[in-house]
Amino acid sequence: MSHSESRRQFLKYLAASPVLAYAQSTRRYAGLGDGLISTPEHALNVFDFESVAESVLPPAHWGYLKTSIDDDATIRRNREGFTHYQLRPRRLIDVRQIDMSTEIFGKTWPTPIVIAPTGSNQAFHPEGELAVARAARVKNHLQMISTVASTPIEDVIEARGEPVWYQLYPRYDWTETMKMVKRAEAAGCPAIALTVDNTMGSNRETVRRFAKLDERDCAVCHTEERKSPMHEGLNIPERNDYSRSVDWEFVRRLRDATSMKVLIKGIVRGDDAELAVGDGVDGIVVSNHGARAVATDRSTIECLPEIVSAVRGRILVLVDSGFRRGTDLFKALALGADAVCIGRPYLWGLASFGQPGVEAVLELLRAELELVMRQAGTTSIDQIDPTYIVAKH
Ligand SMILES: Cc1cc2nc3c(=O)[nH]c(=O)nc-3n(C[C@H](O)[C@H](O)[C@H](O)COP(=O)(O)O)c2cc1C
Repeated sequence: MSHSESRRQFLKYLAASPVLAYAQSTRRYAGLGDGLISTPEHALNVFDFESVAESVLPPAHWGYLKTSIDDDATIRRNREGFTHYQLRPRRLIDVRQIDMSTEIFGKTWPTPIVIAPTGSNQAFHPEGELAVARAARVKNHLQMISTVASTPIEDVIEARGEPVWYQLYPRYDWTETMKMVKRAEAAGCPAIALTVDNTMGSNRETVRRFAKLDERDCAVCHTEERKSPMHEGLNIPERNDYSRSVDWEFVRRLRDATSMKVLIKGIVRGDDAELAVGDGVDGIVVSNHGARAVATDRSTIECLPEIVSAVRGRILVLVDSGFRRGTDLFKALALGADAVCIGRPYLWGLASFGQPGVEAVLELLRAELELVMRQAGTTSIDQIDPTYIVAKH
């Protein structure tokens, strides 16, 4: 029998085999008919939502969600960075009760998992930021809303049921910038995060590649007149004309001009963190913008130690970029972060299933963190200290 004939015979046998029928029925049972989960409940981890998001989003929007910079090395690095730290679990601890509650600016949250600000959520699901806010409400997470959100901040707060934090991209004009700040203040936002790592433009090649695959006419939605809701009523050129002149003087001015807590988002060096403390800001977000700003080839988990040692507990330290697993969160907490922000994973959930998808992503991360806390012998967040990890040489 020739090789191709025997292969054909084998495939015929396989097709008639009860083994295959069983395999197919179990795949269906697991919601994996085409290799993709069909309901949020079928997800084993947050990555299960990534493939669904890719399959449902138009190419240009998928590219916007997926993109990193240059050759995407920094986004890979954000993940690889976690492998440089290993866990050192304690044994023989009573771990029946795990308390994940976390205090942030005097308010207690059930977990240290925070929703990072991301722009244009309606590009991923028609309900956009509202679906995220409703999920944040159900699961009780702190949510930050972007300057370039596709939904007005007031509507997001209503859907969330309490004020969210506001993320600021400043414009050149102080007066116009202050209109956004005052609007967030009036909406009741207790804190504002000034993003400082993404106003210079960035070389996002992946989004450009995917945009070329999209056969729809982008100009139909992305019109000249269309403004981000936060830019409504502002006398500014629309689109990416953000201020490149923001400096420490701007930070001090902002701090003095608002009653909100001020955080700087995008700090990746200890000396900058020290300056932030000196200038009286209330917190920093250690972030490389999910590897969407500068191709640093350095993960944020690797940036965290120098920042924590510069800050010495004086202000709040949040961290994001690449967090996908309970163990990732645990490592950041062990290195001294107060809480961890999540970006793409909740957007994968949003694109896949709307609000239930976001809820499922938040629940998976919560459950994974709870499990690793139990396995490591830590029963509360403040017990997770540097003795629970070791840097790999
Ligand atoms: C699609 C997308 C849009 C984003 N938009 C903003 C934004 O408007 N403002 C901002 O400060 N950060 C923005 N970010 C960065 C996130 O706040 C966060 O730093 C990052 O997503 C964390 O990394 P991760 O996606 O690997 O979890 C965006 C990220 C993504 C993926």
